[in-house]
Amino acid sequence: MESIVLKDKVAEYLMGTSQEDIKAYVSELQTLMSYYKCAMHEIEAKFKVLNEQFSLQHERNPIESIKTRLKSFESIREKLERKGLPLTVQSIWDNLNDVAGIRVVCSFMDDIHMLAYCLISQDDVKLIEIKDYIKNPKPNGYRSLHIIVEVPIFLLDETRRVRAEVQLRTISMESWAKLEHRMIYKKNLSEELLSKTRDELRECAEISSQLDHKMQAIRNIIEK
Ligand code: GTP
Ligand code: MG
Repeated sequence: MESIVLKDKVAEYLMGTSQEDIKAYVSELQTLMSYYKCAMHEIEAKFKVLNEQFSLQHERNPIESIKTRLKSFESIREKLERKGLPLTVQSIWDNLNDVAGIRVVCSFMDDIHMLAYCLISQDDVKLIEIKDYIKNPKPNGYRSLHIIVEVPIFLLDETRRVRAEVQLRTISMESWAKLEHRMIYKKNLSEELLSKTRDELRECAEISSQLDHKMQAIRNIIEK
């Protein structure tokens, strides 16, 4: 996070607080964010290793792409305020599981559960929560596998266990989610247009799911 920009945002949140307190908050926040960044790198490296291994054994890559993102200060603030929780650095650490985010886009549906299983079976990975929106899509049609994990990061003088959110999805789940997010996720449209768009998107989600199943079926035939 850009430290000058961050300082301005924190100053706005801590309006009326002394310069020293703002400085201390920014410094603590930057330290915390660096832990999340390290956890993100660790998990990304784990998926890269799995991809490498799998492609050696099966001559194809199960992973299309990996994206990582750190939650912005605005998003952190919005989420904690929505939940009625304080915006202290301790509260971020205690209450948020998705400051570090890793998105893994897979070639085929079966790769998603295979990779998730490989990750959570690792000795140093602790599974905190799993939400399978592929088996149980959201009412709007959203599909993805979400897992919250805790991984150790090895710092200069200590080891810390840090939580992160991993989202695994296929290419078509990814394109649906991207478009849906742009069109309506947390946006204000007129009731009529919103309702029509929702119906259309649900239909697209259905088509996207059929495509995934069909692609998987072809893959299975080829692999036999
Ligand atoms: P948030 O408060 O949004 O983080 O929800 P949550 O903590 O209950 O977790 P959930 O697993 O439902 O969603 C976490 C993340 O998944 C979101 O931040 C989005 O990135 C993604 N997501 C969840 N639902 C949708 C959806 O309906 N559409 C899209 N495009 N993305 C979604
Ligand atoms: Mg979340």
